[in-house]
Amino acid sequence: MTVFPEEPVLEAAVRRRLSPGRFAHTVGVVETAEELARRFGIDVRKARVAAWLHDVAKDEPRESLLKRAEEFGIVFDEITARQAELWHSVIGAEIARREFGIDDEEVLAAIRYHTTGRAGMSGLEQVIFLADIIEPGREFPGVEELRRRSREDLEGAVLAALESTICYVIRQGGLLHPDAVAARNHILLRRS
Ligand SMILES: [Fe+2]
Ligand SMILES: [Fe+2]
Repeated sequence: MTVFPEEPVLEAAVRRRLSPGRFAHTVGVVETAEELARRFGIDVRKARVAAWLHDVAKDEPRESLLKRAEEFGIVFDEITARQAELWHSVIGAEIARREFGIDDEEVLAAIRYHTTGRAGMSGLEQVIFLADIIEPGREFPGVEELRRRSREDLEGAVLAALESTICYVIRQGGLLHPDAVAARNHILLRRS
């Protein structure tokens, strides 16, 4: 059985690295991820560990994230390179591996893909992706509907969340990451 850091250790480390607002969001993600994991038969311990660490790099300044990417040998794809808000998930997964000793690939992938999703997401990846969007601190039009769907159908709620995010990015005139499109297509194909 994989050994994970003790939760109080994770909590303290994350509290040190994040602003109070981001820390509160993370606590919301941990609680929501646990709830979803229990409901849909996903490993609760893995869900809580991934949730604690999902935004571990989010409050690092741009320059420091770039430095880490270089140090870790991470080369961003073209779209990620142009969207600084995507960097923290890639770097965060690497911090989880190197600094927190997480070697569970499923947990690392849940952190790595929590902003974009990807084709063929595991149950754990879906739980973290969704918990990040519907935790109690989130308020945006449609969040209640996502919370409602997440009580019945994990994959259906992930699909709806992907669609809402994709539409939002398009309305903002932003670049769509191909992983988000692939995640949506994959679920649609699976369900058709
Ligand atoms: Fe994030
Ligand atoms: Fe988050």
